[in-house]
Amino acid sequence: MAFIKWNDSYSVHVVEIDHQHRKLVSLLNDIHDAMTLGRGKEVIDSIIDGLVAYTQTHFATEEKYFELYKYPGAPEHIREHNDFVKRVLEFKDEAENCKQGLSIEVMLFLKNWLLTHIKGSDMKYSSFFNEHGLG
Ligand SMILES: [Fe+2]
Ligand SMILES: [Fe+2]
Repeated sequence: MAFIKWNDSYSVHVVEIDHQHRKLVSLLNDIHDAMTLGRGKEVIDSIIDGLVAYTQTHFATEEKYFELYKYPGAPEHIREHNDFVKRVLEFKDEAENCKQGLSIEVMLFLKNWLLTHIKGSDMKYSSFFNEHGLG
């Protein structure tokens, strides 16, 4: 059973961004599977590195469109992204210093943050982007 199951209520109706969100969900599922299956530390660390890198790529994509379309909610949204990157980098350090990878509390935090952010802050730009022809 997947740790996070994608459903259409997470769609922001922008193909490129939905694709990136699905990829983030799948990376979190990969970390969860690797931990559940007792995979080695190197495997888990490398998926976490992948998650950190892809999170930054994804945030850069959203922020590029904020800039391009002069999205009014940008400052607050970018602050949320920056805070999250800081947290994730801390978790990455923690995971590197610990045999088991990430704790279940951290996994749940990542899951909740991602889904709450998508359904809350990301959803707010959905119709704004659509109106600017991004879909
Ligand atoms: Fe997003
Ligand atoms: Fe976002």
